Amino acid sequence: MASNVQNTEETSALAEVVESNKFKTTEDIAFYRRQKKLLPGNSPYHALLDTLQLSSYKATLQLLNEENKVSLLLEIFALEDHVIRIKVNELKPMKLRYEVPDVIVNEPVTQRLTVVCSDGLSLTLAAANGCTHVLVIAKPFRMEIQNHGEVSMCVNSLGYLYFEHLRKKSQSEVNIRESRQEGKRKRDMETQEESEEDLGLWKEQFHEFIDIKINGPTSVGLDFSLHGFEYVYGIPEHTENLRLKTTSQEDPYRLYNLDVFACKLHSRMGVYGSVPLLLAHKQNQTMGIFWLNASETLVDISLNTENKTSLGKTKKLKTDDDVLPRTDVRWMSESGIIDAFILMGPSAFDVFSQYSRLTGLQAFPPLFALGHHQCRYSYKDENDVEQVDAGFDMNDIPNDVIWLDIDHTEGKRYFTWDRSKFPRPREMQEHLRSKDRKLVVIIDAHIKVDKKYPFYCEAKSKKYFVMDKDGEEYHGSCWPGVSAYLDFTNPIVRNWYANKHGLDQYKDSTDILFVWNDMNEPAVFSGPELTMHKNAMHAGGWEHREMHNLYGFYQQWATAEGLIRRSRGMERPFVLTRSFFAGSQRYGAVWTGDNVAEWSYLKISIPMLLNLSITGISFCGADIGGFAQNPEPELLVRWYQAAAYQPFFRNHSHAETKRREPWLFGEDNTKIIRETIRERYALLPFWYTLFYMAHTKAEPVIRPLWVNFPEEVNTFAVDDEFMIGDALLVHPVTKAGITEVIVLLPGKGEQNSPIPIYQHGGTIIPRKTQVLRSTKAMEMVSYALYIALDSENSATGMLFLDDGHSFNYKSKNQFLLRKFSFKDNTFSSVCADEKGCYCTECVVERILVMGAERPTCVTAWDPDGQESAVHFTYNAGKSLLNVEDLRLNLACDWMLKFHY
Ligand code: NOJ
Repeated sequence: MASNVQNTEETSALAEVVESNKFKTTEDIAFYRRQKKLLPGNSPYHALLDTLQLSSYKATLQLLNEENKVSLLLEIFALEDHVIRIKVNELKPMKLRYEVPDVIVNEPVTQRLTVVCSDGLSLTLAAANGCTHVLVIAKPFRMEIQNHGEVSMCVNSLGYLYFEHLRKKSQSEVNIRESRQEGKRKRDMETQEESEEDLGLWKEQFHEFIDIKINGPTSVGLDFSLHGFEYVYGIPEHTENLRLKTTSQEDPYRLYNLDVFACKLHSRMGVYGSVPLLLAHKQNQTMGIFWLNASETLVDISLNTENKTSLGKTKKLKTDDDVLPRTDVRWMSESGIIDAFILMGPSAFDVFSQYSRLTGLQAFPPLFALGHHQCRYSYKDENDVEQVDAGFDMNDIPNDVIWLDIDHTEGKRYFTWDRSKFPRPREMQEHLRSKDRKLVVIIDAHIKVDKKYPFYCEAKSKKYFVMDKDGEEYHGSCWPGVSAYLDFTNPIVRNWYANKHGLDQYKDSTDILFVWNDMNEPAVFSGPELTMHKNAMHAGGWEHREMHNLYGFYQQWATAEGLIRRSRGMERPFVLTRSFFAGSQRYGAVWTGDNVAEWSYLKISIPMLLNLSITGISFCGADIGGFAQNPEPELLVRWYQAAAYQPFFRNHSHAETKRREPWLFGEDNTKIIRETIRERYALLPFWYTLFYMAHTKAEPVIRPLWVNFPEEVNTFAVDDEFMIGDALLVHPVTKAGITEVIVLLPGKGEQNSPIPIYQHGGTIIPRKTQVLRSTKAMEMVSYALYIALDSENSATGMLFLDDGHSFNYKSKNQFLLRKFSFKDNTFSSVCADEKGCYCTECVVERILVMGAERPTCVTAWDPDGQESAVHFTYNAGKSLLNVEDLRLNLACDWMLKFHY
């Protein structure tokens, strides 16, 4: 949150003022202005085909810029998993350029590329899988990625390859002169000549902030054309629709992590986090482009059409069968190198898996983290915490976690307690433990500059802080006043920081305390755009500009590592972060930051969370009710009804809003909110199983409809409803005063509905039969299986089970993965992973079959082959068959037979 925005009464209006004052528009971004001077279709780059070198794992060749004579090195890799990686760097850079470390989990396995055709004008490389070919055309340089003989994607076909080579400052004027001579192919250069200063090559000014660039201009860019695609998604985080919009007449999508309080809606400016992954979908294929660059990045998107027979040439739209859509995506980054992964799919799930092989899987959250979280900026003191906790029990509403915001600390010195408000933090935690609940405390990225704060002194003496351009400790202002910023990019600092979470180091913390990392873009109230100066210096002599978007990723990593270490590697951590990058899914959860108590913010939360989900970050949520301002009761109720079906489920509110505990809005509303939260708890086995699938198979927990219905074009732009796994379709109500919404049911058209949650035919959902005060309290509660039959009278589903908190599922195989199926009037429960050996006394107590006919009798077969009749009831009006009073052990195989 911005320091100068304390009063939330006119939040939206203020937000706009804040934006226009504090944040750049694209016109303020010098590298963007420079790149936009390129005109399409006339790339100066020439691929020198005779420089081709093939090794066992890559192909390389040189690209010559015929205007400035600088050579680049192009590297092409065919990764094992149907992924093509393209890297472009200077052939002979004056010094190393930044290549993003730590995001790619394992060095990708590569396949040998072979030349299958070469004629001096072009050459074709084939990957060992036989179906992917890469055609390299020499002049002007461009590439075509072909899949089974069809061109899926072209690279640099618009000629936007852009690479500012490192140079000595004195050369820059020469370059300016050069670029003036290139005026013929540059837009309006005669009339709009920019001075060297305006071009921001060595210096760029924004308000009072002067960015001196020691390395001069280092910007890179490249265009990708997606043939046959008109729907593209991803590149979070923006307050925008799921389907990305064309930017021809509007701003590009900006990826630059910033603390934007109450961000204006439908804005493409950067907010808290960035994932540079774009997905493209058409009926028979999904593809992805992962642009691995952590500096400020802008993405232009344009939708064009072309003639089927002349790929690459733009034509006017015709209602002709020969006309195909094409989406052009142009990536522009301030620094680093070009490192792009083309994920070939062909299905959306293939793309998710390809991306996860590169950047890792969703961390498997402890079960409590999927329950309800109650947060506030800030709960005042221990008594407040106790009252709020008791309020849940008094109102019969389950809750798993109480959160403490910045005011629990001694003057915003993290890892401390304000003893006047929290004299007995350990007892407070023990009290929560006795209720089977947890505590989450905030630990921000900034550190108070205070010679009496041992944490600061130690980090200072060890030189663990980011430095400024003059080699002094970088200082900026944040909540505690003057603050320093740990250099989380340094593994030594991360190691030290992780250890600070030890129970012996973090005074009065216990193992039920988990962590929330905030303000980690990082927020610097006194900095340009409320963040760190780009020329601040990190370990290894790298400028902050190189890895700005990675800062929050590193803090969350170090925190998660700290919590794991605290338990000697036994317990799964929970860490929420506001800032994130590709790969952040490995370390915990993400929320969408400072939203507003307005219906429009509830509505936008759906596409925002969907775009996070399909770019690897399944564990995501938005503040329930809106962080800033006060929700009217109807909005809060509707928000709860939406958020109960979103992965991270937290009520949070700003200090200057009214209290927002769920029971404060009148008995009628409490009743609905209670039912909503209880329904979330009943469905936890389903959520937990989906998180296991996200964690092991990269399947997003919530999904846009098109992911599950990839052939149904009418789902492609839908972002007011979504799927949870493949079983539930949810269409939250996001407008005031309505009692009915129109729901699109794929395959069935639109329907009016007052209860906008549907189970898809053919699925089985595991639930708990009873809801208690927290997830842990519900551990031994029996299960119910809800079966929705499809037109073939069949259904399948899964259930994952373990202790809910440790790594034993991995290290000791202490888990159960069960597969349920209904087919030929027989329901069976079988083991879906023989490795799993978790022992449980838990049973399935009830089976509900939707869409069944009335059987004459139902019998259960136990593992010993014993058959016995079981009790059932049947509701003919609803075709509901209810088999109750079962005691079927979850760990065993068994069957139910429905006799007709
Ligand atoms: C900004 C965060 O976005 C918000 O959730 C938090 O309450 C405040 N910082 C205070 O810590």
